[in-house]
Amino acid sequence: MSRTSEDNGHDAHRDKKKEKSRRPGNTAFKQQRLKAWHLKDLDRIAYSAAGLNGVIFAPIGGLLLWASEQVQELVIDYTNCANPDQSSSSDFRPIPSDKVQKNFYKPTVETKQDAQWKFSTNTTNINGRDVTTSTCTLKFQLEADMNPPVLLYYRLTNFYQNHRRYVKSVNEDQLRGKRVARSSLDTSDSCAPLAVDAESGKIIYPCGLMANSLFNDTFDMPVLVQKRGGTSAQKETYEMTNKGIAWSSDRDRYGPTEYNFTEIIPPPNWINRYPRGYTQTNVPKLREWEELQVYEIPARKAFLGIPDIF
Ligand SMILES: *[C@@H]1O[C@H](CO)[C@@H](O)[C@H](O)[C@H]1NC(C)=O
Ligand SMILES: *[C@@H]1O[C@H](CO)[C@@H](O)[C@H](O)[C@H]1NC(C)=O
Ligand SMILES: *[C@@H]1O[C@H](CO)[C@@H](O)[C@H](O)[C@H]1NC(C)=O
Repeated sequence: MSRTSEDNGHDAHRDKKKEKSRRPGNTAFKQQRLKAWHLKDLDRIAYSAAGLNGVIFAPIGGLLLWASEQVQELVIDYTNCANPDQSSSSDFRPIPSDKVQKNFYKPTVETKQDAQWKFSTNTTNINGRDVTTSTCTLKFQLEADMNPPVLLYYRLTNFYQNHRRYVKSVNEDQLRGKRVARSSLDTSDSCAPLAVDAESGKIIYPCGLMANSLFNDTFDMPVLVQKRGGTSAQKETYEMTNKGIAWSSDRDRYGPTEYNFTEIIPPPNWINRYPRGYTQTNVPKLREWEELQVYEIPARKAFLGIPDIF
């Protein structure tokens, strides 16, 4: 305010009033005198608590880092294995280097060879249907010995496995073996939209989007073609197994089904596996089918993305 008291009296009076009205009221709230906790003298405690945390967790972190570095792995993304024209080829081609990741903590080979792949198709007639199988053969070099257990994992990306509709599209009772009625499967809380086959009216077993999308690439056992040092080897197959890959908590969700084979039909995408649907003898035994068990994980795990121990 640049006005002085020489201004006319009326204005001066107004300014005074204005000034007064701008002052916050003398209440505890407006003057910030409310009761509150003021942390004083806690710095030492806070710092030593943080310090203690550090002392406890730094070694654990170090241990985890060390443990993860002991893992030797070779990752090959074979999505683009097929050549552009999808034709079979008898030649191996180099795999682009961004599709191969490796981590060998003590490499023991002198000459490193790039990984290669080969694409081939094979059409065979199964039960009167022509089924084309695409095969990708991978040739790779292990730069260090791997001690058992040697595990094979597959990794799917750009796949919305946590989408609510997908995760919910499963019926636990049906997996456990119960004869769940058509009407209770075909709801949004259960297997819809893959509960009942529209054409035959049969119940889809196992029902739901999850079972239908079961990852069905198959893997042959690796074969040794060349020994270290370059001497070609007597072809030697490394025996791998698909038993014991599921946790018992996963296996326990499954049981023999009470359905009669005549009332059920496989999910639509399983057509090549069950070209004629189910018969007396081929109804899948889910409790023994570990590939399905590790794929069709319970919603709670899919949501949290954490293993069962928590
Ligand atoms: C195609 O698959 C059939 C059945 O698995 C097999 O007998 C045949 O040898 C394969 N052909 C080629 C060219 O791989
Ligand atoms: C594998 O799964 C895909 C997609 O789910 C399906 O189209 C294909 O027919 C299946 N193949 C076999 C052999 O079951
Ligand atoms: C399954 O259904 C068929 C035809 O409806 C019937 O003949 C057969 O006895 C049933 N089997 C069982 C185990 O219930």
